[in-house]
Amino acid sequence: MSGIPSIGIDSNPVCVSVSKAKTDWAIRLSTIKRLSDQVLCSTARKYRNFIDRKERQESLGHEYLPQCDPIFTHSRAGQYLISSGLLERGWIGPSAALKTLLIMESLEGLPARPRNFLQLALLGLLVPEISNMAYGPEIYKRRHQREPDVFGLFRGRVLENLEKLEHLRSRRIKAKTTVLLGDSVGKGLTSVDMGMVRAVISSPPYLSDHDYTRQTRLELVLSGHVTSNEDLRRLKKSFLRSSSKNVYKEDQLSRHVLRFPEVRALIDVISEKAVQRTSGFARVYPKLVGEYFGGMYRHFELLGELLRPGSKIAYIIGDQSSFFATRIPTAQIIGTLAEGCRSGIRCLDIEPIRELRGTRGRVNWSNKEWLLTFEKKGSLS
Ligand SMILES: C[S@@+](CC[C@H](N)C(=O)[O-])C[C@H]1O[C@@H](n2cnc3c(N)ncnc32)[C@H](O)[C@@H]1O
Repeated sequence: MSGIPSIGIDSNPVCVSVSKAKTDWAIRLSTIKRLSDQVLCSTARKYRNFIDRKERQESLGHEYLPQCDPIFTHSRAGQYLISSGLLERGWIGPSAALKTLLIMESLEGLPARPRNFLQLALLGLLVPEISNMAYGPEIYKRRHQREPDVFGLFRGRVLENLEKLEHLRSRRIKAKTTVLLGDSVGKGLTSVDMGMVRAVISSPPYLSDHDYTRQTRLELVLSGHVTSNEDLRRLKKSFLRSSSKNVYKEDQLSRHVLRFPEVRALIDVISEKAVQRTSGFARVYPKLVGEYFGGMYRHFELLGELLRPGSKIAYIIGDQSSFFATRIPTAQIIGTLAEGCRSGIRCLDIEPIRELRGTRGRVNWSNKEWLLTFEKKGSLS
């Protein structure tokens, strides 16, 4: 928006398609309006066909559940909502899911840019308006189930987004924004030209045993990115290790950071506490800590090659105490690793920006969130 060309990278395909849609300044508003009317028309027609099938069955005395309709059973997303248990556990009501699947199906044939724009409207409504889930900040199931007017909500959100885009248009934004699906601990960064980057802003995953794929699970499934357990496993593997649900036997990035005394000491303390636990997840905590910091180390190593001398970096990072209440000064350690990976990055400042508070079991915790600033040594040409 400030006219600076930029590249964004995330390993979550939902975040990528949403970011692409939000930064497509050149999309034609008239095309979107026309296509959204088409989508709503075809969705309404398909929904009427569903109602006909339902009424026919009910007139014969049979119960007709949305999840038994071909709209569900012929769609991979619908099948996975059933087989994964998301529907049974009430993440989303069957009728709301059916209407969402219908809109998604109508969007399928559209060219990528308008499809992304219209999908953005639907995905943005999924958790707050359509599903039975809410953020608090972790995703959880609400007490009351919803019967939302999915089509009406979708129409309203598309119009809202068009208004916002029209407003942004008045600023005549010309800068190019590229959004890449990729792993910032590996190939995602190697696809960016070396020495081209002048500034980086990021909020990397926190080491808080937070499964980032769970937070966007419904969006991932309904947009068709995750329609099998295998898809989900593959996706989790492409994420920075930050949760006991995405750390694997073959992971070996901790080897980069075991020489740092602060990382070693943390792993030792958490290993001692883990020995007394029987839970499988608790036992992977020491490995997870090593893999998280190993991943961040590798990230800074790769990033260093992309930065021009003198370029600035700003990262938001929270400290944690998610593993047996062991205090982890994540921001401080990341500052040390960024300098220690010898990629020419110098830590400028670690500034507290807010206090995060919560409860885990019966224990209250509070941790600071920090703004870390770095620079690549040398002067910007
Ligand atoms: C704390 S969120 C920040 C989201 C967003 N950048 C922001 O600032 O609002 C961390 C993000 O990192 C992404 N992520 C996790 N592992 C990644 C990896 N290896 N490469 C790139 N992105 C990753 C997650 O999908 C998630 O969107």
